[in-house]
Amino acid sequence: MNEQELAWLDEGQPVLSKNNPNGWVPSDESIERMDQYIIDQINITVNESDTLYLLGDFCFGTRDSNRIGRWAQSYRDQIRCKNICLIWGNHDNRRIRSVFSSAYDRYELKWQGIKILLTHCAHAVWEGSHYGAWHLYGHSHTTAEPSLDLFSSKFFHNLTQCATTDDLQNLVNQLELGRSLSELPDFVPRRLSLDVGIDNAYRVFGEYRPLSLQEISVFFHGRLGSSADNGKS
Ligand SMILES: [Fe+2]
Repeated sequence: MNEQELAWLDEGQPVLSKNNPNGWVPSDESIERMDQYIIDQINITVNESDTLYLLGDFCFGTRDSNRIGRWAQSYRDQIRCKNICLIWGNHDNRRIRSVFSSAYDRYELKWQGIKILLTHCAHAVWEGSHYGAWHLYGHSHTTAEPSLDLFSSKFFHNLTQCATTDDLQNLVNQLELGRSLSELPDFVPRRLSLDVGIDNAYRVFGEYRPLSLQEISVFFHGRLGSSADNGKS
């Protein structure tokens, strides 16, 4: 394993129309441009000899197994990276297994001595989450991140430790000062987990592209490791 390993979630064709709250359906040309852009972004970022981890939902949109197999193969053939590991997503048809070098429901790798759990859906707690182990996931299109930040913050820990109504009132008073949650001194997230889907990559890093473990390591700098529980189990 080397520093060029990449973690990423790819979402295939009909995700735009399915998730569009306005109800409009993009044209086939628009979807093709989106797909081509995503493939180009992978090939700009990933070298042929890298390992690319796709964290699920590679493509979906038909119950026709033969058709989805051809789709998946045609997308995969356009990615220059030779070694692609798929973590199964809820929309992946298992018939696309042969398209990838390997495929797992969950996978744990080690990089620079760090244990890293890869799954499609987010975990609130994972093995070693209080002791420096990372967790990378997809599926949620950025929406799980604020909750996970809150649950791993000292503020939330303090909230669960309130033994009296006075303790609780003191915490509530902090909110009543008119500050947003993220401005609270104890709100800083401590978790070593990240949504590595393309939309969260854009939110955090400003670009729709795969993320390297090295840059995730920089993003995590200063975080001690924490999760939604007290870490004593
Ligand atoms: Fe999913």
